[in-house]
Amino acid sequence: MRKTILGAALALAAAFASPAAGAAGHTIKVGILAEMSGTFADFGQQITNGAKAYMKQHGDTVAGRKIELVIRDTTGPAPDVAKRLAQELVVKDEVDFIAGFGLTPNALAVASIATEAKKPTIVMNAATSVITARSPYIVRTSFTLAQVTEPMAQWAHRNGVRKVYTVVADYGPGHDAEATFKKTFAKLGGEVVGEARVPLKNPEFSPFVQKVKDARPEAVFVFVPAGELAVGFMKAYRERELAKAGIRLLSTGDVTEDGVIDALGDNALGVISTHQYSMAHDSPENKAFLAAYAQVAPQQRPNFMAVGGYDGMAAVYEVVRRLDGNVDGDKAMGVLKGLKIASPRGPIQIDADTRDIVQNVYVREVRKVGGKLYNVEFDHFPAVRDPGK
Ligand code: DHB
Repeated sequence: MRKTILGAALALAAAFASPAAGAAGHTIKVGILAEMSGTFADFGQQITNGAKAYMKQHGDTVAGRKIELVIRDTTGPAPDVAKRLAQELVVKDEVDFIAGFGLTPNALAVASIATEAKKPTIVMNAATSVITARSPYIVRTSFTLAQVTEPMAQWAHRNGVRKVYTVVADYGPGHDAEATFKKTFAKLGGEVVGEARVPLKNPEFSPFVQKVKDARPEAVFVFVPAGELAVGFMKAYRERELAKAGIRLLSTGDVTEDGVIDALGDNALGVISTHQYSMAHDSPENKAFLAAYAQVAPQQRPNFMAVGGYDGMAAVYEVVRRLDGNVDGDKAMGVLKGLKIASPRGPIQIDADTRDIVQNVYVREVRKVGGKLYNVEFDHFPAVRDPGK
């Protein structure tokens, strides 16, 4: 039903399109759907500031076209809102690209619109594996939980860990992390001795963490989305004295990400994580990114979501440049498939078949550098793909 309404609206929009649309000189609009308010507002801030940082560094005109961001607030995990806003972006704002998406449910909700409207859609964070399979018009410039979890399980086993308890947020990316850890670890001969799933909204971590302690694993592996949930988990980990009980903390980088690391404080020291980006990554591309980001948001430490937004805009600019300003959905996908970018995190590539990202996954430890906490990279797995793809 919805599909039909969108189809009719698209036909109407095409019939009444302003003569300037599609003609030389019109603005290229990038509709960004992100969590700009509520508990997950930091996701939207990071993503949009990352996108703005790219524009600050590279100017706002490509192939003679001005690039404009049209930012809309999904308000949190709200698939109905995301879908409605995506329809408006396509029909009313006539955007050339859809982008953004901190949270998986919002990205999944927009897949059918991307397909029907043939809009190149760039997922700048949401990290459940299946998202890119839901529409041939979706690409991802962030990561997948499976992609960063497989190396964590391998690293843990390589370093003598054999019994692990897993704790994940109870939705798509958490389920992917849980399944990937178990599968990889079991194949190597390790054992997952317990699994806990915590709710995405307002979780109470203490009872879960106590259960972990009672099971006496050698380590706990954790994925919760960046931000407040990470703070909540770390608080319970400290209060229940898991470290003192000899239970190591292994996590995806979401838990110790740069935006939240100051709030975690010294409790986070020594936590091992795997992820694709750290502020401490040493490269000229990262230096340039950090300088541009500081101009856009001087008070905020950028995290991996900011880099997803920044690289997403790099992808947009490359499409506009290669198509000489004449952006068409199918031609844009032709440019995006196989695209290589020198990202602040290291080299990345959009796989031509899956439209998902291939990138280095770094092993990091939270350490103090110059009096500040950082995820210091000390090892890496090169050119990692989503293990299911
Ligand atoms: C999602 C994934 C993350 O890694 C994260 O930190 C937050 C949200 C997601 O896909 O919803």
